[in-house]
Amino acid sequence: MNDKEKFRLGVIGAGIFAEANHYPSLSTHFFDDVERVAVCDLQLERAERLAGKYGWKKTYTDFKAMLAKESLNAVIVCLGGKYHPDVVPEVLERGLPVFLEKPSSIDVAGTLKILEASKKTGLPVQVGHQKRHGLAYERARAYIRDKEKFGNIIQIESKMHGFTVFPTFYTCMLEWQCHNLDLMISFGGQITEIEAKSFRNSDRTGALTAMLRFESGALGILGWGTYGGPGQFAERIEVLGDKGRGVIVTNARVVTFYDEEVGETWTSDWNPISKNQSYMFNGYIPELRHFIDCVKEGRQPVPSIEDEAKTMQYLAEIATKAGIPIEWAPVSSAL
Ligand SMILES: NC(=O)c1ccc[n+]([C@@H]2O[C@H](COP(=O)([O-])OP(=O)(O)OC[C@H]3O[C@@H](n4cnc5c(N)ncnc54)[C@H](O)[C@@H]3O)[C@@H](O)[C@H]2O)c1
Repeated sequence: MNDKEKFRLGVIGAGIFAEANHYPSLSTHFFDDVERVAVCDLQLERAERLAGKYGWKKTYTDFKAMLAKESLNAVIVCLGGKYHPDVVPEVLERGLPVFLEKPSSIDVAGTLKILEASKKTGLPVQVGHQKRHGLAYERARAYIRDKEKFGNIIQIESKMHGFTVFPTFYTCMLEWQCHNLDLMISFGGQITEIEAKSFRNSDRTGALTAMLRFESGALGILGWGTYGGPGQFAERIEVLGDKGRGVIVTNARVVTFYDEEVGETWTSDWNPISKNQSYMFNGYIPELRHFIDCVKEGRQPVPSIEDEAKTMQYLAEIATKAGIPIEWAPVSSAL
């Protein structure tokens, strides 16, 4: 496609989460270069309602028909981990890059199936861990990237409290704390050792602490579990360097930079020109923009399905070491 042509996008999935985040994000001025071509959902009334509300031209109930009829440049898939491994390879095999909402699957095998299809077709799959692209986390990453001043990361402490509505402990980890693990990896790199303990006070609830070692040798600690919410952003991450500097991100909004002498706190006072600035802060607009730019420029987006395959394996290892059964059960975003 040349620079003047619009980027033709399709979406498979018009459920609660996509309605709350993807569709409104894509209708902001950040996506003026995108043509909102078609929406597909098994429930036609959902597809029609969202297409009408957010200006998408066509609706489908069969995604294969949508891919055959519309000349798309890429597709967003947002269905649920149970369905992703069956749908995403079909999209890739039809020659289209995919933005895939998390979780990529409900188990490691499903994620590996998508990874294999991505490798076979040579097409990218970006996974929707929006926090990586959130404004506060990007700000922290920029501070750390100045290696001369920050030095090497020596330790990362992170917490992301869960909430008790999840039907199993592992569902809470897979659907929610997967974001926190992706963030840890985005700061610390790949993980080589995992220790984990849990305190379970019922079949599906409890607390979890895990200790990690990164490839660099740095240590990580994370506090999860199913209590501590339900504040949607009950999260905090602190990254320490070996030159006396550190950075703390609180609730995806406030960043504290410090060295041995002084600390400074940053929080945005910029109001993005979009209906809801949380789409910017939380990373929904930036992650989708990143995906489209990467596809246009032939770059590999992050986190990729390769990254996600490792994250899924670490998640399963944390659960196994903590004695939490790897059992997923359906959960709705209408919590
Ligand atoms: N990034 C985040 O922070 C975050 C938060 C919440 C949910 N999510 C994720 O969003 C995804 C969707 O969750 P939800 O609660 O909106 O689910 P949902 O059940 O409300 O929506 C899923 C939609 O997919 C449709 N669908 C299923 N199979 C289909 C197929 N083969 N073809 C076309 N349509 C099909 C269903 O009809 C439904 O409308 C899940 O993967 C969930 O984990 C992400």
